[in-house]
Amino acid sequence: MDKRPIGIFDSGMGGIAVLKVAKNILCHENFIYYGDNKHAPYGIKSKSEIFDLSKACVDFLVQRNVKAIVIACNTATGVSVKRLRSMYTIPFVSMEPAVKVGMKNAHGGKILVMATPATLRQDKYINLVCNLNAEKDVIEMPCEGLAALIEKGVWEGPVMEEYLTNKLSAIKDIPIDSCVLGCTHYAFAQNSINKVLNNFGKNVIIVDGSIGTSRHLKNILCEKGMLNSDDNIQQIDIYSSDENKLPLLKAALYS
Ligand code: DGL
Repeated sequence: MDKRPIGIFDSGMGGIAVLKVAKNILCHENFIYYGDNKHAPYGIKSKSEIFDLSKACVDFLVQRNVKAIVIACNTATGVSVKRLRSMYTIPFVSMEPAVKVGMKNAHGGKILVMATPATLRQDKYINLVCNLNAEKDVIEMPCEGLAALIEKGVWEGPVMEEYLTNKLSAIKDIPIDSCVLGCTHYAFAQNSINKVLNNFGKNVIIVDGSIGTSRHLKNILCEKGMLNSDDNIQQIDIYSSDENKLPLLKAALYS
């Protein structure tokens, strides 16, 4: 049994979508969330910038004595997780686009993967698709600008729909069977993504990795004997590198 909190970080508010699920699956656990909103979005930065920022997030959480760290950011995972694991002894749970689940739901059809440009460029993602033998079935859509819009609190409405309509019009004539949200921010725009896909006559299953990641986190803590079985009221502390964004993070957690 380990009563220390679990640390979760993301470039900003995307990881809140993971925390929302994790806090319910692990209802006896306490959490510390760190959103690096000051430096968001990560998805258009260079590899070395993304690594340095991810490491700073890890150090922030390690200083607060967390027992495990969830990298609730596909971009930070793709660039940094291997190196971070070699530098720290703390267990890391990371995220990658849920292509395998997308394939399961596509039943042999096409899978649209929406993610940041940086995630889709990384060997980690390329190897994932290759190992699943999914190169011919996957359609990658780098969504530059989408995480930034969500960071501003624009999750739905005309501006979001205009962005998505422009972006998704590229696949309007291609049959799509599932859509993988390969960036944690995009979970907040899921209703709009669904609406715009519907406008294009597509009725697809949208896959988000938060549930899988939270279950994996639970399994890892269980295997290591690190679960907290205390019956205390769950404590969740939220921090941000941009104090002005704290109200948005808190509102997103309870939205
Ligand atoms: N939420 C992040 C992800 O899952 C990154 C978004 C960004 O900062 O560009 O990739």
